[in-house]
Amino acid sequence: MKNVMEQDIKKVLISREEIERKIDEVAEQISRDYADKDLLLVGILKGSVVFLADLMRRLSIHAQIDFMSVSSYGSGTKSSGVVKIIKDLDNSVEGRDVLLVEDILDSGLTLSYLRELLRDRHPNSIRIVTLLNKPARRTADIQPDYCCFDVPDEFVVGYGLDYAERYRNLPYVGVLKEEVYKN
Ligand code: IMP
Ligand code: MG
Repeated sequence: MKNVMEQDIKKVLISREEIERKIDEVAEQISRDYADKDLLLVGILKGSVVFLADLMRRLSIHAQIDFMSVSSYGSGTKSSGVVKIIKDLDNSVEGRDVLLVEDILDSGLTLSYLRELLRDRHPNSIRIVTLLNKPARRTADIQPDYCCFDVPDEFVVGYGLDYAERYRNLPYVGVLKEEVYKN
């Protein structure tokens, strides 16, 4: 029996097994790259929490976490590139090796704004890890340094990603049925 969330999914794009395997790989690479660094994982709320929770548990090095919450000015689902800080970091990033953790790099406007903002606070380094990358929609000049999966230009949900704040707790990444948007 499909649950209430699964009933709204047209197709599974990335299964939980595929996600697990890929995060193992990326975590291993990050553990190697940051072995002699001072790693601070910065999760962008709320979409990154599921990915961050899985990724951090697979790292074999010391890591600290912090969170930022932002909202983009402008209408609905379109990112304007101007970002309002709803919750800032608890601690300074000066001299730290910051790894921004995001659910998806879409237009890239949010992360390029945030990266510039954090660069002004003089971290030792700043990189980006994303679960998903949607290169077809990129308008900002930005690429993830670490990325688990490229996805086509479709609206996806699950594993942290939402539609109207729902489906974040779906354990895989899927595409919604069209009728869900119409309701
Ligand atoms: P960007 O500034 O356009 O890169 O926006 C990134 C943010 O838009 C992500 O953190 C997501 O919250 C949201 N987003 C972009 N594409 C999708 C999608 O396919 N499903 C769910 N959220 C998305
Ligand atoms: Mg989001």
